[in-house]
Amino acid sequence: MRKICIINQKGGVGKTTTTINLGAGLSRKNKKVLIIDLDAQGNIDSSLNLESYKDVYDFLFENAELNECIAHVGKNLDIMRSKETLTKSEIFLAAEEEEREFLLKRKLEELDSYDYVLVDCPPSLGLLNQNAMLFADEAIIPVSTDFLGMDALRKMAIAIKDLNQHFDHTLKISKVVPTMFDKRTKLSHKIMSEIQNEFYNIVTDPIRVDSKLKECPLEKKSIFAHAKSSKAAKDYMKLVTSLLRDEKKK
Ligand SMILES: Nc1ncnc2c1ncn2[C@@H]1O[C@H](COP(=O)(O)OP(=O)(O)OP(=O)(O)O)[C@@H](O)[C@H]1O
Ligand SMILES: [Mg+2]
Repeated sequence: MRKICIINQKGGVGKTTTTINLGAGLSRKNKKVLIIDLDAQGNIDSSLNLESYKDVYDFLFENAELNECIAHVGKNLDIMRSKETLTKSEIFLAAEEEEREFLLKRKLEELDSYDYVLVDCPPSLGLLNQNAMLFADEAIIPVSTDFLGMDALRKMAIAIKDLNQHFDHTLKISKVVPTMFDKRTKLSHKIMSEIQNEFYNIVTDPIRVDSKLKECPLEKKSIFAHAKSSKAAKDYMKLVTSLLRDEKKK
């Protein structure tokens, strides 16, 4: 079971979009996928049709059972949603005396019925995200190919290194995914080559800018269901393939 957090402390870089479409793509390739939404804004909740009653907050703090908190959204795709109650969780976590950074990991210790668990992180480095990073073995960092993208990526890489040292953990950045790549602009190319120079072997092909992605939340569909011939569907399927390829290397 691969445990992956999709993380970047910078907002609006494509974390949620990447989580949803990676999850949907992997499930189409017959992988059993659980997405955990750790963003209190409930982005995934409003991007897909979810029916489960309980959410991540109930799971972490109210002793709700895992299966009460999971919505089945596709044949191989389950989602643990979040809603605004999760905003309280930073405060509750801060009040925990022991192992407050390890609550998610502890709660999911028994979980083994999925091939992939993808955690969509909010844009911060708070306790919830530390929980996500200490649960996960791999981090995927989406980076916007714009002005501040590189800066955010460097900061994120340092934060992961510090976290690993502090907690004696081994979270590995497995992929850096350049997003919103616009091949007509010099800036996109410049940032893309900076990313490649610094993170060469883990940088994936870019996800091109595609307005079809913006329509998906309204339609409550993944890009594969909404516009299967779009640029974004092709780019995200390439990303799925690159994850599947890693399995063979192991
Ligand atoms: N490749 C792309 N082309 C065009 N629009 C995109 C692309 N990727 C994401 N978007 C759009 O950009 C916006 C931000 O994306 P998204 O919500 O995935 O970012 P995020 O990193 O999860 O944001 P937050 O930090 O607020 O959680 C959304 O409206 C999304 O539809
Ligand atoms: Mg998001």
